[in-house]
Amino acid sequence: MEHPFADIQYCETLFNRFYDVGGLTSGGVTRLGYTQTEDQMHEIFAHLGGELGFENRQDEVGNTFVGSMAREGCYLIGSHLDSVIDGGRYDGVAGIIAGLMVLRWAKEEGLPIPVRVGAFRCEESSNFGCCTIGSGLVTKELHRQRVAGLVSRDGETLESIFASRGYSLDPPRISGLSGYLELHIEQGKVLEESGTSVGIVQTIAGPRRFKIYLRGLAEHSGATPMALRSDAMCAAAELILEIERLGNKEAAYQTVATVGVVNSLPNVMNVIPGEVELGIDVRGIDLTSLDRIELEIKDAARRICARRNIEYLEEKLSEFPPVNMSGDVQMGLERAAQRLGVSSRRMMSGAGHDAMAFPTLCETGMVFIPCLKGISHNRAEFASLSSICDGARVIYEYLKGAAV
Ligand code: GLV
Ligand code: MN
Ligand code: MN
Repeated sequence: MEHPFADIQYCETLFNRFYDVGGLTSGGVTRLGYTQTEDQMHEIFAHLGGELGFENRQDEVGNTFVGSMAREGCYLIGSHLDSVIDGGRYDGVAGIIAGLMVLRWAKEEGLPIPVRVGAFRCEESSNFGCCTIGSGLVTKELHRQRVAGLVSRDGETLESIFASRGYSLDPPRISGLSGYLELHIEQGKVLEESGTSVGIVQTIAGPRRFKIYLRGLAEHSGATPMALRSDAMCAAAELILEIERLGNKEAAYQTVATVGVVNSLPNVMNVIPGEVELGIDVRGIDLTSLDRIELEIKDAARRICARRNIEYLEEKLSEFPPVNMSGDVQMGLERAAQRLGVSSRRMMSGAGHDAMAFPTLCETGMVFIPCLKGISHNRAEFASLSSICDGARVIYEYLKGAAV
């Protein structure tokens, strides 16, 4: 849809205010959850809220809110401000920008329902191997026992980071919400390839994350004959390809499996790899398929390690079930898009989002916008200002519908 120049300009101003934070010479950004870089993003967000004339509030886990602090009937528009390592500038940030745009229109036009925008901490699993920590803790979808011992890439536990910041791992449950809405870049190609302006999310795939530690024997790579080795890397290599094969087998159920982390010790040229750590990310919307692939991965690790004389240990870092968005919200968003003449389609989300944490609390919905070639979690990520405005307008139109 066509947007007033003032909207495009405001959208660009918001985007540029966040631009430099965590910038890398590669052109990407690294803004890991619960680091000072993420703090800077939250400070800018609070400031931008102030420029619109709103107070801000930080909750017990460091999430930041601007807009109405009404105790009842509030619509929360949320997303996150952290990123993956060497990531792009739209994942999460686009949703916060859209929220601020909606807040501005709501104020200008006197929308008669309270709206708040929330930036949730540490949505990405890049720092602790667990996603949606900020939103998960305040909705009670994640509990102290599950996260306290998680260790950051710098080797600090979440518990000690929280203690040093004065945060609580057991905050009160967020309440008084009438709805939760989130705009996000699609992170896939469906919208772009079908020429559709917005996606309306039906189900968010549930991520399960594991570590598998393999231990062989670090020995001289020149002096140890091939037949006498316990090479942890070779076992890892076999397991990685097996996980790919299992992912392909489950693809009909829209399940995917990725080994995104390989750490090897001692990681030198002239020593047989003695220890390897694998990080595995499995996702899908079909619980039976997810359960099956989890069992098969464990079975593959057992078989491969037994045959190769490798010790191993598996650890589940996190598990979230697939989550459905509210049918009423999907319909409301679809109608809002129709009223605006914005093309839409319903679709699933393969990526995880803060929206996963809200359906047990209130009516929850998500709007996707296209991103260039579907690329995300990559510094080349791009979404147009006009697409961000399209999605923000659909959310605002939905809220106008909810207000009557
Ligand atoms: C969050 O971006 C995810 O990994 O799905
Ligand atoms: Mn992400
Ligand atoms: Mn995201």
